[in-house]
Amino acid sequence: MHYPWWYVGGLTAPMLIALIATVHVFVAMYAVGGGIILAAETSRAYKENQRDVLDYLRSHLKFFIWLTVVFGAITGVGIWWTIGLTSPLATEALIHIFVFGWAMEWVFFILEIVSAFMFFYYWGKLDQKTHTTIGWIYGLSAWISLVIITGITSFMLTPGSFIENKQFWSAFFNPQTIPQIFARTGGSLLLASLYIFLHSSIKIKGQEFLRGIERRIAKWATFGAVLTIIGGVLWYVNLPESSKAALEGAASLNILMTLVFLATAVVFIFFYFGSLRGKGLLSPGYAALLFIFGILAVGSSEFVREAVRKPFIIYDYVYGHQIFKNEVNETKKVGFLNYGSWTRPYTLKKFPQLKDENNSIDFNKVDKLNWNDKVEIGKTLFMYHCNDCHAVIGVSGVQSMTRGWPRDIIKTSILEMDKMHYFMPPWSGNENEAELLTDYIQSIQLHHPILSRSGEKKSTQLNSSTKGGSNE
Ligand code: HEC
Repeated sequence: MHYPWWYVGGLTAPMLIALIATVHVFVAMYAVGGGIILAAETSRAYKENQRDVLDYLRSHLKFFIWLTVVFGAITGVGIWWTIGLTSPLATEALIHIFVFGWAMEWVFFILEIVSAFMFFYYWGKLDQKTHTTIGWIYGLSAWISLVIITGITSFMLTPGSFIENKQFWSAFFNPQTIPQIFARTGGSLLLASLYIFLHSSIKIKGQEFLRGIERRIAKWATFGAVLTIIGGVLWYVNLPESSKAALEGAASLNILMTLVFLATAVVFIFFYFGSLRGKGLLSPGYAALLFIFGILAVGSSEFVREAVRKPFIIYDYVYGHQIFKNEVNETKKVGFLNYGSWTRPYTLKKFPQLKDENNSIDFNKVDKLNWNDKVEIGKTLFMYHCNDCHAVIGVSGVQSMTRGWPRDIIKTSILEMDKMHYFMPPWSGNENEAELLTDYIQSIQLHHPILSRSGEKKSTQLNSSTKGGSNE
């Protein structure tokens, strides 16, 4: 909360991160799984002297490099850009905690790009052994960068003993690291297989040759599916209690989890019984269908992975509304707006009459403001305390979520927000600020669609006449 707010209308900024990150993951996982499969299959084709397979692998590699390097790099930078704007505190914390992690990540990232280009551009110009080695350098460095980034993202869900000892390796090897490495590695192989299916079914003309590729790739996919299932089970076992509760309790997460499960099962059944054991089904239509299921599974699982951390961005450490967990007592005491190094001058510049002798906001003077000014300050509170999870209109839109709520319910829902819903952070302002935020919510809320229709109209009118408060 020491930075200006960033409100993304309709969507909320975290949803924007989720969209960019999910698209990034579609490609980043292909970069890892594809790297391993391409290195292994190239080495095998050399050994068995299969010229036609080598030719195909080369044409796939070209498609692969274009997609992963160009698109992967652009969306990767996009993630940094959006997380920095949306969650500056959590981003700052991750940078500080993982300085060496990021440094390692960049080393392997550079190795990855250089070896990918060498693998492609030196195709046919190097002896087989050197060429295969470069392929493996690519595959392994891509996988290690997956391991490093997984250590960091899994830390956000289960920081483990880091909270007490503040050690880098405790943060990195947290309870979710191994489960998520399994799940991501498996998912990468699975997703890469789907890309190869799609590409080869369009590119390859000979049926018999295509069938050979299909069977080889289906083996990788089946192996990937097994790793994903092991990882998924371990992930669930190691979830914090609030995340398990959210998985059970939130309807949207129920639907997403079912989608992940069903889509993965469909892909697995087709891969195993159709492509590996069966007569072979590979055609552009079949590949496209499986691809859609695969994208659905990966996309939904990314959303679930992000959603179950609430109310935290970094579990037990940084709250969704941009303050450290251990700051809440202080923000409540001095006032949320007084605490922020940006909110205080921002508010005082607009309302200098609120200034006290210490250059802070004197909340006793707030009562003298008129309704519009109160609403204005309430809006600032909303933008800092709520906008990370709620839009005004749109995703989790407070305007319609509080439809027809009387003032006292709104105020209670603010003061007791963490008790009302365990996935919301505790109210971190003082009593006056809760009043101001209530004013703002009253100013935007929609009327009750049934009660406000007829005889009950009176109560809403009564409600809005009290809106002005004591000073109008
Ligand atoms: C860390 C995320 C997070 C923050 C921060 C947050 N909320 Fe929520 N809130 C949620 C979630 C998740 C729900 C359930 C949303 C849904 O069902 O779409 C929710 C639900 C609500 C509801 C509906 C409650 C109900 O039972 O119908 C209201 C009202 C609400 N929040 C107000 C606020 C206000 C006001 C703030 C700021 C002071 C706030 N929230 C901050 C996550 C958050």
